[in-house]
Amino acid sequence: MKRGKGMKFVGDSRIPAKELRMKNVPKDYSEYPGKTEAFWPDYLLKEWMVGAVFLIGYLILTAVIPPPLERMADPTDTGYQALPDWYFLFLYQLLKYSYASGPYNVIGTLVIPGLAFGAMMLAPFIDRGPERHPLKRPFATGFMLLAFASIFYLTWEAVDKHDWEAAAQQGKIVDTVEIDKENEGYEIYAGQSCINCHGENLEGTAAPALTNLDLTVEEIADISKNGTESGKMPPGQFEGSDEDLQKLSEFIESLKSK
Ligand code: HEC
Repeated sequence: MKRGKGMKFVGDSRIPAKELRMKNVPKDYSEYPGKTEAFWPDYLLKEWMVGAVFLIGYLILTAVIPPPLERMADPTDTGYQALPDWYFLFLYQLLKYSYASGPYNVIGTLVIPGLAFGAMMLAPFIDRGPERHPLKRPFATGFMLLAFASIFYLTWEAVDKHDWEAAAQQGKIVDTVEIDKENEGYEIYAGQSCINCHGENLEGTAAPALTNLDLTVEEIADISKNGTESGKMPPGQFEGSDEDLQKLSEFIESLKSK
C-alpha cells in the first residue's frame, strides 16, 4: 500500500462542506510521494520530542520558581483585597471604571465582555470572504488589533494601579507561636506593663512581637529592666524580683515557632 493512501485533505473551515464535496474534491495524500511521513514512528517521535521539551521546561520552572503561596484563607477578613490571576486582570480592571461598575455593573460584567466574546464566536459567520491575507481583511484585522490593544492596556493599568506592597503584606505567612497562658512566665508577663505594649499574645501591638526573638535570656532580662538601646522602649518596665525576671525572660526566649 502506498504511503498516505486513503488520507484526505480535511480543509479550511471557511469553505462550506457542500463546496468541498462538489468542486474541491481533495486529492489523496498518496499523490504527493515523498511529502508524507509515516505516523509510526516518524511523526509520533517528533510529537513526543516536542512534548518532552515542554515537560522538562515545566519541571524546571516548578523547581526553580517557588509557588506564590499566601497564608491560609480567612473568610472573616473582609479587608482582604483579592486579585485575579494575570490573564483575568483586564476584566478586573474594566470593573474599576465608573461606566462599568456600581449601578452599571451589568455593562462591565455582561455587555462589554459579551459583545467582545460574542463577536469572536460569530466571526466565521460574519467574515466569509475568501481572502486570507490580513491586509485584505481590514475589519477582522482591525478588530483583532483593537482587542489586543485594549487587553494589553487594561492588564497594564491593573498591574500599575495595584498596591503590591499592601498585597504582599496582607497575604504574608506569619509563623504563629503557641502561647501557653498557664505558664508561670506568662503570668509574670501579664502582671507587668509589658502586655500593654507587646500585646496579650506577645504578638506585638504598639511594640514589636516578642516571639522568635534572636536574643539570649540575659539580653531579654536586660531590655526588660533597662529598655532598648534606641530608647524606644523606655527603661524600668520590669518591676519585681530577679527570680521572676529570670522566669519571664526564659519564657520569652522559649517562644519559637516550630
Ligand atoms: C511603653 C511600651 C512598652 C512596654 C511597657 C514594654 N515594651 Fe518592650 N519594647 C517596646 C518597644 C517600642 C520596643 C522596640 C524598641 C526598639 O525597636 O528599639 C520594645 C522592644 C522589646 C524587646 C526587644 C525586641 C526585639 O525585637 O529585639 C524586648 C525583649 C522587650 N521589648 C521586652 C519587654 C518586656 C519583657 C516588657 C515588660 C517587662 C516590655 N518589653 C515592656 C515597648 C514596650
